[in-house]
Amino acid sequence: MDWGMKNRLSRIIRPETGRTVMLAVDHGYFLGPTTGLQEPGKTIEPLIPYADTLMLTRGVLRSCVSPKTDIPIVLRVSGGTSILGNLADEGLTVSMKDALKLNVSGVALSIFVGSELEKQTLLSLANVINEAEEYGVPVLAVTAVGKDMVRDARYLGLACRIAAELGSHYVKTYYCDDFEKVVKNCPVPVVIAGGKKIPEKEALELSCNAVQRGAVGVDMGRNIFQSEHPVAMIRTVREIVHNNLKLRDAYDMYETLSREKEVVFA
Ligand code: R5P
Repeated sequence: MDWGMKNRLSRIIRPETGRTVMLAVDHGYFLGPTTGLQEPGKTIEPLIPYADTLMLTRGVLRSCVSPKTDIPIVLRVSGGTSILGNLADEGLTVSMKDALKLNVSGVALSIFVGSELEKQTLLSLANVINEAEEYGVPVLAVTAVGKDMVRDARYLGLACRIAAELGSHYVKTYYCDDFEKVVKNCPVPVVIAGGKKIPEKEALELSCNAVQRGAVGVDMGRNIFQSEHPVAMIRTVREIVHNNLKLRDAYDMYETLSREKEVVFA
């Protein structure tokens, strides 16, 4: 791995702990103005100090994030579909040249293993990796799960392993039973997505379980920005990821920070 690749990767996965809190706010690329991201700039701003990276699209980056902001960017470079169509039918949306002009630390794209379009998405991944290798840009493969797929260790392990075999530098997947098997069978770092909004305590438990079972962190969106207290949530997730905060302490921390906010703004 060359210096540029290592340097960019160390801006995403923090060398101090070997872990990362990625804030995912790219959902609009297929969901439109989803809850919590109607005005992305307002949502993102108070969360940035507690995130290691921002994962988002070119459009939101340009229009809603100041170029003076000091945060590594992981740019989503796949899309072209919507919630109304066939989500697996994604293509590449951003050239490597434009990604580099945006000074990104990494790029991300989805693969749909098991869908009728798996080949298209896997070859897109391989093509992006080929180009990214030329410029030293780490590639995050996002293992998207189609409606017909089961989010179990067998399926997610298959998808993660294929992403790694094609050369992804790290992989995003979902937490599942026997998650440690998914991690063990994937030779590159794994981060977990949060998935649909669930109660805060459950999202904190998910984060604790994931890092205890080998994830290098989270790439979390809705369970942070759709929380009643997004700043309290990301601060607590950060403690779990970087300092191995246990669940009981994590929930106490979340509740304390939530109350603090209410006092400040009452
Ligand atoms: C989905 O494909 C998007 O890339 C999201 O970034 C990803 O699902 C993580 O967000 P969430 O924690 O809301 O699932």
